[in-house]
Amino acid sequence: MAENDIFHQYVAKIYHEHCGERVVSFEFQGKRYWLKQVEKLTGAMRLLKPNSTAALNKEIDVLNTLGHLGAPVPAVVEVGDGYMVVEDAGDTINHLLHHTNQALWQPILNDASTALAKLHNMQLAHGRPALRDISWQAGEVKFIDFEANQQNDSIISQQIRDLLVFIHSLYRYMEPNNRVICQAIKCYRLAGGENIWQKAKQFLAAWQWLYYFAKPFRYTGGKDLKPVYWVLWHFRQAPLTLPN
Ligand SMILES: Nc1ncnc2c1ncn2[C@@H]1O[C@H](COP(=O)(O)OP(=O)(O)O)[C@@H](O)[C@H]1O
Ligand SMILES: [Mg+2]
Repeated sequence: MAENDIFHQYVAKIYHEHCGERVVSFEFQGKRYWLKQVEKLTGAMRLLKPNSTAALNKEIDVLNTLGHLGAPVPAVVEVGDGYMVVEDAGDTINHLLHHTNQALWQPILNDASTALAKLHNMQLAHGRPALRDISWQAGEVKFIDFEANQQNDSIISQQIRDLLVFIHSLYRYMEPNNRVICQAIKCYRLAGGENIWQKAKQFLAAWQWLYYFAKPFRYTGGKDLKPVYWVLWHFRQAPLTLPN
């Protein structure tokens, strides 16, 4: 039997065993893959996110397009009714922060931040680059989970949103570890992201009331509100220009 057919049969077996599970990873001939299925929603989520099949199909299209353009995304190796199989991209950064030595946090986050700037320099955007949707493996960063990717807004607006989501996520997973976070964001600016960073700062000018509103919650607020304060704080105190 041809190699492709063996792989195809193996995927069918995994799909059968894990039908309905959102993601499952498996190994085939020493290589790791992920099978991702259409999201099975219950209750109110069915009303909030009505078309999960379209969402997965859109993600497949985006991954293929970005892959062809040379963006750092895992290759889609198989597509079936209600699922896709992608190559493993390595451990996601939120997991890595939990089980790697703190001395490695700075280089990992610098790499992620630089990779986001490079993606943006290719006139592309992710949609929701939170640390759980960015992977890192021996210095190589990949972006996964493109279901939130939007092509409706201008690319500049998408990139501004990407940067804000990314910074929010840094503060969410790292607590206010400002030194490490500010250094990582500086990497985004120096790697070609300066224009978007400045535009994000201008965008936030209208949200300064939120800075004062969120301040009392900066150490105690919930996992979404607390980082909002720190995102605003970041743009208030970071130097307006960086030395070359
Ligand atoms: N190609 C991949 N490489 C590494 N990890 C992956 C990959 N695809 C999915 N994962 C893991 O599975 C999780 C969920 O997959 P994701 O595509 O983000 O689905 P969801 O839309 O449900 O968030 C990711 O956060 C990551 O931990
Ligand atoms: Mg995800």
